[in-house]
Amino acid sequence: MLTIKEIEKKDIKRIHQLETEGFPDPWSIAGIGESLEQPCTILLGAWLSDLLAGYVICYCAADELEIARIAVDPAVRRKGTAASLLAALKDICLERGIRKILLDVRQSNKAAIRLYEKAGFIRDGVRKNFYTQPAEDAILMSFGFGK
Ligand SMILES: CC(C)(COP(=O)(O)OP(=O)(O)OC[C@H]1O[C@@H](n2cnc3c(N)ncnc32)[C@H](O)[C@@H]1OP(=O)(O)O)[C@@H](O)C(=O)NCCC(=O)NCCS
Repeated sequence: MLTIKEIEKKDIKRIHQLETEGFPDPWSIAGIGESLEQPCTILLGAWLSDLLAGYVICYCAADELEIARIAVDPAVRRKGTAASLLAALKDICLERGIRKILLDVRQSNKAAIRLYEKAGFIRDGVRKNFYTQPAEDAILMSFGFGK
């Protein structure tokens, strides 16, 4: 069974492990720890029994939320973990009066783009050479909650 709850300090090492498995430019342990300290940050984890299988890190600014990171353990992908994290995030947004979720995604990251589109996100545009390590364009996407 999947349980979604907030990330705590004790989870930082595991998040870092998932970062290294999920991204070409993983965040450092210190960087993840700093995010956890920020009052404007939302960090959710998804546990499959005792295993922290995935996480999402977001920043709030006024009535908008930006997804900075989302990743799932390669061994348990395609089981709905990321979709459940996004659904939990939307519930939090509704509770807090957040009207829009924003994100950027590497153009080549078809799995993530499909994940977001399936969750109702739309494409807003392209930011040229937005990423480094390796250099790549970003697709900008958003989800609006309406009025
Ligand atoms: C992108 C990622 C978070 C998806 O996690 P996940 O738990 O496997 O995703 P889910 O099982 O919730 O998938 C939900 C939907 O997303 C889409 N999707 C997910 N992975 C996909 C893939 N490899 N290929 C095509 N579509 C995919 C599908 O539509 C899927 O629904 P379906 O399985 O019913 O067809 C995961 O692949 C990952 O950690 N990637 C590395 C880190 C990353 O790229 N993060 C995004 C940065 S913007």
